[in-house]
Amino acid sequence: MAPLQMPLSPKDAIFLVTFPGLEAALAEEARSKGFRQPRAVPGGVTIGGGWPEVWRANLWLRGASRVLVRVGRFPASHLATLDDRARALPWAELLRPETPFRVVAECHSSRLYHSGAVAERVTRAIHAATGGQEAADGLRVLVRMSENICTISLDTSGEPLHRRGFKQAIGPAPLRETMAALFLQQCGYRGEEPLVDPMCGAGTLVLEAADQVARLNPGRERSFAFEGLVSFDPAAWAAMRGVRRVPRTGILCYGSDRDAGAVAMATANAARAGLSGFTAFQTLPISAAAPPPGPPGLVMINPPYGTRLAEDSDLRPLYQTLGRVLRDRFAGWRVGLVTSEPRLAAATALPFLAPGPPVPHGGLRVNLYRTTPLLA
Ligand SMILES: C[S@@+](CC[C@H](N)C(=O)[O-])C[C@H]1O[C@@H](n2cnc3c(N)ncnc32)[C@H](O)[C@@H]1O
Repeated sequence: MAPLQMPLSPKDAIFLVTFPGLEAALAEEARSKGFRQPRAVPGGVTIGGGWPEVWRANLWLRGASRVLVRVGRFPASHLATLDDRARALPWAELLRPETPFRVVAECHSSRLYHSGAVAERVTRAIHAATGGQEAADGLRVLVRMSENICTISLDTSGEPLHRRGFKQAIGPAPLRETMAALFLQQCGYRGEEPLVDPMCGAGTLVLEAADQVARLNPGRERSFAFEGLVSFDPAAWAAMRGVRRVPRTGILCYGSDRDAGAVAMATANAARAGLSGFTAFQTLPISAAAPPPGPPGLVMINPPYGTRLAEDSDLRPLYQTLGRVLRDRFAGWRVGLVTSEPRLAAATALPFLAPGPPVPHGGLRVNLYRTTPLLA
């Protein structure tokens, strides 16, 4: 059987990693993009399919941090069992000899508790089957021992997927692209309406939104670890990644910030991503923010919060100003606000729905606060 057609079994062998709290949003994104049977589980989403779905998930999904493929699962309470079962896996059908690899093991509540010994056994099994060599930056083989069950997966992404390959300039407290994309998803943003971020920093939210307006795949320019697997077919991959949908016109995503340096970074990041024609940035304090001409859309905003940027200074006046500007000038617009502080969200006096689940971010936990369209 040709490697490309080789089925991955069972049907939930593909695991999309995401942030705790955002599993349902990622499952929704996977469903909307036609992936089969997405199921939210703690820490991620399982989907069915084979290698083409693995490539497609890496290329298309905005919210997945990594795409893992489970290649083995078995009980193992002794090193000898681990050795036998690891050697029985079809490594030569998975890893190319010339692809360096690195086994990363973790052990929880198991008789095999020494992660170094577990990693060593699996490394030896792979080396014996393929002749491949270990390297610190090699394709990651993840081994997890939990309750005496060993699960072995390949990390098909390599560099984490929030590294789209465009954003070189970042501010002091950037959102990850994957997290920004899932917050946009939760606000119902689908690239069919304007977006405004009046505290845009290096522009993460604006660029993720503009990418959707332009109908571009988030992984269009980067490489992936699956390119080093036996199942990789360069011609089929070139055909898959080459498909570009025709951009719609007329919708722009707007970013502003009081910091001219941040605006310069956002502008440069948009240019690198090929999104200059879909974005507009300006240096502006929140007190001067105003809606662009045309129909309303989504205001998506990640103001300073917690200890990351604000230290001990009181941010309540800033949030009060933000709330007043949005309530006074943005009638008809929906608002999505990401912050770690419920009291700061409340200071805006915006009519928020119940907040989304807490999501770990930079040592804090942030929530997404959403409104329906603001009334005049
Ligand atoms: C948490 S950062 C936003 C990071 C951004 N989401 C990103 O991923 O790069 C908050 C931003 O708010 C901006 N800011 C703070 N006070 C402001 C004000 N009064 N008016 C406009 N921008 C302000 C800061 O310059 C900073 O870039």
